[in-house]
Amino acid sequence: MAKSDPSWSDVDDYIVEHLIGNDPALDACLAANAREDLPAIDVSTTQGRMLELLARGVGAKRILEIGTLGGYSAISLARALPEDGHLVSLELEPEYAALARSNIEKAGLAPKVEIIVGEAVKSLAALEAGDASRFDFVFVDADKENYAAYLEHAIRLSRPGAMLVFDNVVREGEVINADSSDPKVPGTRALYSALQDHPLVDATAIQTVGSKKWDGFLLGIVRDN
Ligand code: SAH
Ligand code: DHB
Ligand code: MG
Repeated sequence: MAKSDPSWSDVDDYIVEHLIGNDPALDACLAANAREDLPAIDVSTTQGRMLELLARGVGAKRILEIGTLGGYSAISLARALPEDGHLVSLELEPEYAALARSNIEKAGLAPKVEIIVGEAVKSLAALEAGDASRFDFVFVDADKENYAAYLEHAIRLSRPGAMLVFDNVVREGEVINADSSDPKVPGTRALYSALQDHPLVDATAIQTVGSKKWDGFLLGIVRDN
């Protein structure tokens, strides 16, 4: 893949300096992730703050995340929660989940966050079978092959008016290439196809550049129905 354009990263630095500033908890999270050799595929600093603001904007009290990694985006999302708010985050890898729990604990957010280890589709089915109240905000950032399945689970687990956010929906433009050699593209395209004229979700996607190169977020709102 192409390297990040240096000017995109420089502008990200400028944005962070002016609008976000130092964040020891998130810095410590990234340092711990690097020590444990986790892939550096967390959302960026500016993106993490965007998730926090979106979740605060919808007044989210219950948030679902699919794809925890080391907990960087989970810390961002949990910060949006009120005192009695709750984040459920789903992660396949037990080692990643353990590190995320440690990072979230050090960020002072452990009481608000529950990480469920396993294949997300199975955890989602279990959540649907349970009697927990529905989510106000869902952030999807795990295996792209399952994005269309995650959409349907997210809709069933969400209240009307809930916000859905999917990461990595542009992939340096590869999303429009039906013959892409990137194995993650078909799953991403299946999400767009599922949302074409979807009766339950209004959606858009916004392209982004920055330290995570050219990519984008898909945003949706679950309709009243
Ligand atoms: N949201 C994180 C980054 C997530 S990276 C952040 O911004 O900080 C994607 C994560 O999804 C990885 O940790 C990977 O292990 C997890 N994942 C991949 N396939 C999965 C599956 N089938 N079920 C649950 N988690 C999965
Ligand atoms: C990858 C996954 C992500 O969620 C991301 O934001 C960037 C890269 C990846 O699997 O390569
Ligand atoms: Mg991602």
